[in-house]
Amino acid sequence: MKIYEQNGQKLINADVFDGLKTVEEGSVDLIFIDPPYNIGKDFNTTKDKWKTAESYLDWSYEWIDACIRKLKSNGIMYIMTSTQFMPYFDIYIRQRMSILSRIIWYYDSSGVQAKKYFGSLYEPILFCVKNKYDYCFNAKEILVEAKTGAKRRLIDYRKSIPTQYNSTKIPGNVWEFPRVRYRMDEYETHPSQKPINLLRRIIKASSNKGDLILDPFSGTFTTSYVCKELERRSIGIEIDDGYFTIGLRRVLNMQEYEGKSTRKELKVYETVNANGQMRLFEKKVHYD
Ligand SMILES: C[S@@+](CC[C@H](N)C(=O)[O-])C[C@H]1O[C@@H](n2cnc3c(N)ncnc32)[C@H](O)[C@@H]1O
Repeated sequence: MKIYEQNGQKLINADVFDGLKTVEEGSVDLIFIDPPYNIGKDFNTTKDKWKTAESYLDWSYEWIDACIRKLKSNGIMYIMTSTQFMPYFDIYIRQRMSILSRIIWYYDSSGVQAKKYFGSLYEPILFCVKNKYDYCFNAKEILVEAKTGAKRRLIDYRKSIPTQYNSTKIPGNVWEFPRVRYRMDEYETHPSQKPINLLRRIIKASSNKGDLILDPFSGTFTTSYVCKELERRSIGIEIDDGYFTIGLRRVLNMQEYEGKSTRKELKVYETVNANGQMRLFEKKVHYD
């Protein structure tokens, strides 16, 4: 196991269960879990496919229990998985925590579309709390434009003094954020990187500055990256060495790891000139 820590951001390169052993029970304010979905993605070190649905669920229930033990008595958990496995997670978790929202992360897709069924354009997220009478929810931090009220300047005549509708509101449970695309600045070489804006909403709503946030399947360490930006502390666990290296660059600004550069692979349309400045070019090249 390798552990790197700087200014409250701790990055752990380990299997989830080994990494979790280093985290004190009852010490975490918020957990964000984006695990393998059992849909066959290639995560380099691990393959995202179990022999049976039952074995995936048994494995998942074990880390779900371990994660819940890490939460403070007023702790919060957001958890994702594929649409086909979320009903099982839901039934399992509702016996252990209160599920306050069943969120749909919706995105449009211009890519290959299903031809003989309705293609999947969303991923489910459960928002769960340990104590439904005591948990953090910073509504003011995550307000969005109330489209109808704001754009059409509607007046609510049911009020004793007719007033204009609010121009902002707390988001509902359908969240629209674009997926991380190759051409986006935040893109890293990972098959299921989550958008910075998705994590911003979760972390702003459900934690305060200085709080401790745990992500047991960190991938490219999006959670830790946002925690650093929003002045939260974080613990991120990731089994794959390559993704861990991305985290070291993204969160701790490390330029080198184990004698190798951590620099991002150039995109096919980028190259560097003699002064080391980036310019656009339609050819695949690498820094090293
Ligand atoms: C869905 S991805 C997480 C993506 C992440 N949220 C992001 O924004 O980049 C799941 C991650 O879990 C990691 N993983 C798979 N099995 C693991 C295990 N047993 N212990 C720790 N990490 C594991 C994979 O390598 C993969 O990066």
